[in-house]
Amino acid sequence: MEIANSLKILKEAAKQAINDAVLLGDLETLRVRYLGKKGEVTAQLKQIGSLSHEERRSFGQQVNTVKVEIQQLLDSRHNVLEAVAVQAQLENERIDITQPGRQRSSGALHPVSRTLERMQTIFDQIGFDVATGPEIEDDYHNFEALNIPADHPARAMHDTFYVDDHTVLRTHTSPVQIRYMHNNEPPIRVIAPGRVYRCDSDVTHTPMFHQLEGLAIDTNVTFADLKGVLIYFLREFFEKDLGVRFRPSYFPFTEPSAEVDIACVFCEGNGCRICKQTGWLEVLGCGMVHPEVFRHGGIDERKFTGYAFGLGVERLTMLRYGVNDLRLFFENDLAFLRQF
Ligand code: DAH
Repeated sequence: MEIANSLKILKEAAKQAINDAVLLGDLETLRVRYLGKKGEVTAQLKQIGSLSHEERRSFGQQVNTVKVEIQQLLDSRHNVLEAVAVQAQLENERIDITQPGRQRSSGALHPVSRTLERMQTIFDQIGFDVATGPEIEDDYHNFEALNIPADHPARAMHDTFYVDDHTVLRTHTSPVQIRYMHNNEPPIRVIAPGRVYRCDSDVTHTPMFHQLEGLAIDTNVTFADLKGVLIYFLREFFEKDLGVRFRPSYFPFTEPSAEVDIACVFCEGNGCRICKQTGWLEVLGCGMVHPEVFRHGGIDERKFTGYAFGLGVERLTMLRYGVNDLRLFFENDLAFLRQF
């Protein structure tokens, strides 16, 4: 009787302990404590020696029943704690799929690149190919072959960066004319966009800027062709029926030469601060290819004629978008760049 009672107390204690367990690990400790080989339930069997034969049988059964019951308590508590643990993990690792995603901001082309692409598209549509040349150029292509010999005063206007005595950072895209003539037969219709360098820096000059050169060579190319192409280009570029005028000028590599003005895009030709009250804005230089340039290019100047032109890409970008300081293009200020 006393023995049966101690078994019952043991079972109640176990039940209490199991229900109080909060960690799965605690349950394993309790299992060892009660049901293990050296556990408390097993220890109860030691009392069996003091019992009679009949009592032993029933006591053994009782011990077994208690074992089974404790095991069941452990199992069900185990299930409860495991469910709680899974729930906690689900809570912890939960992803709120209704949260808005992180925005990716997309980049965009630099205004100068956009202008270059626009220019190329317009010339592409009227049959001009695209050529490029080196930015580190030799004296011959940058000057000599363009009819600017060593002592020519035009050299002084170029503010040249010298790499060594015979090598320069090209001061204009015109040397591509010579390279293209060497590698191609007329008829030639080509533009050459690219970077050029001059040792000069203020509101209207940066040491690096972009030009777009044009060259057309064929039999019977005339100044009228040059005018037609440039007026067409300028009106397409500015998307309006602009006034355009050609003024006589001088370049060593063209004869005759001209500078081209457009009616001021800010005041429609009425006169304003930007056109210095003249109503006109200078946008490019051009002319008929000089015979000396043909000779350097290896093209028969008795058989062919041609025209050439060169324009400043930043200048046209400023006029198209109304930008008043050239240096803004190279400061990489996002507030400025995002406006395009
Ligand atoms: N190379 C000249 C410059 O940088 C621009 C130019 C003028 C190019 C007349 C030409 C041209 O092809 O015919 O100032």
